[in-house]
Amino acid sequence: MAPARMRAVQYDGYGEGAAGLKDVQVPVPSAKKNELLLKLEAASINPVDWKMQKGMLRPLLPRRLPYIPVTDVAGVVVDVGSGVDGFQAGDEVVAMLNPFSGGGFAEYAVASVKLTVKRPPGVSAAEGAGLPIAAGTALQSLRSIGAKLDGTGKPLNVLVTAASGGVGLYAVQLAKLAGLHVTATCGARNMELVRSLGADEVLDYKTAEGASMRSPSGRKYDGVVHCTVGVGWSTFEPLLSATGKLVDITASLSAFLRAALHWVTFARKRLVPLLLWPNKADLEFLVGLVKDGKLKTVVDSRFPLSEASKAWEKSIDGHATGKIIVEMEG
Ligand SMILES: NC(=O)c1ccc[n+]([C@@H]2O[C@H](COP(=O)([O-])OP(=O)(O)OC[C@H]3O[C@@H](n4cnc5c(N)ncnc54)[C@H](OP(=O)(O)O)[C@@H]3O)[C@@H](O)[C@H]2O)c1
Repeated sequence: MAPARMRAVQYDGYGEGAAGLKDVQVPVPSAKKNELLLKLEAASINPVDWKMQKGMLRPLLPRRLPYIPVTDVAGVVVDVGSGVDGFQAGDEVVAMLNPFSGGGFAEYAVASVKLTVKRPPGVSAAEGAGLPIAAGTALQSLRSIGAKLDGTGKPLNVLVTAASGGVGLYAVQLAKLAGLHVTATCGARNMELVRSLGADEVLDYKTAEGASMRSPSGRKYDGVVHCTVGVGWSTFEPLLSATGKLVDITASLSAFLRAALHWVTFARKRLVPLLLWPNKADLEFLVGLVKDGKLKTVVDSRFPLSEASKAWEKSIDGHATGKIIVEMEG
C-alpha cells in the first residue's frame, strides 16, 4: 500500500536551474486506466529535462507548473489501474513517464503500461533507468542510418560524436552489436572508456584532428550519430559517403530547413533530424540487451533524491560520462 503523501522535487517557474528545484511533500498519484503506480528506485536525467525548465520547449512542455521533472525511471509496481494486463504489484520495471506530466523526481510515480517493461533479475534500477531516452535515441538513430541490430545489415562506417555522453555511449555499443565500424569523438579523459566499449577509432574533440572528425583510416561515413551542437552540415558533408546520412539529434531550425531541402531535392547525402519516438518494443529490446550482458549503462554519478539539485547541476554542466542517476533511498 502506498502512503497518502510522498517526497518529491519540483520547480514552479522557468529558468532558475538547480536553484529552482524545491523539496516538497505532495499527494501520491493514483493509477488510472492502463496505468501503474510505481515506487521509484532510480531516475536518470536527460538534457531535455533541464531544457524544459529553461523554457526551450514552451508552450508544449511542461504542460503545467509546478512540475516534477524527469521521465526515465525504474521501480516496483505497487498498484495497477483498471484494464491493466500483464503487470502486478511487486513487478520490477523500467518506464518512461509521460513528459507532459513528468514525475520522476519523487518516491512514487504513475506510468502508462504502453511505456513500461519488466526489469529482469540482474538489471539494476540504475542500469534500467538510464535506458529510455538515451539508449532509445541511440537505437533509433542507428536504425535510420540502416544499421540492423540482428547483425544482418551491411558493415557500415559510422561516426558517433560526443560518444562519452548519455546517448553516445549507448550508440557506440549498439553500433558494434550491429557490426559497424565506429569512429567516435570525445574528450581525452574518456578515450580509453569509449575504446573499451568497442569504438574502432577515437578522436579527442579538443585536438585539430578531432575537430576535423576525419576517420584516421580514411573511411567515409555512411552515417553520423551527431550528439552535440555547434558543428554544421558543411563540416560533415565532405566526410559522408555518396549516400551518407547525418542523423542530428540536436537539430536547430536551420538543420530542419536543410533536411527539408534535401528531402524535396532527393539529395543523396542527407541531413536527418531525429526526435525519439518512445515505444515499448524498443525499451523491451534494450532491457533485454542489458540482461544478456550485451549493453552497459555507464553510470557517471549517483545522487540521493535529497541531492537532486546537485545531479541537475551536473547535467546542465554538460560533462557527464554516461548517465546521471538519482536514487530514491529508504
Ligand atoms: N532528439 C532527441 O530525441 C534527443 C534524445 C536524447 C538527447 N538529445 C540531445 O542530444 C544531446 C546529447 O545528449 P546526452 O544525453 O548524450 O548529453 P550528455 O550526456 O550531457 O553529454 C555530455 C557529454 O558530451 C561530451 N561532449 C560535449 N561536447 C562535445 C563535443 N563537441 N565533442 C565531443 N564530445 C562532447 C562531453 O564530454 P566532455 O566532458 O569531455 O566535454 C560529455 O561526456 C543533448 O543536447 C540532448 O538534449 C536529443
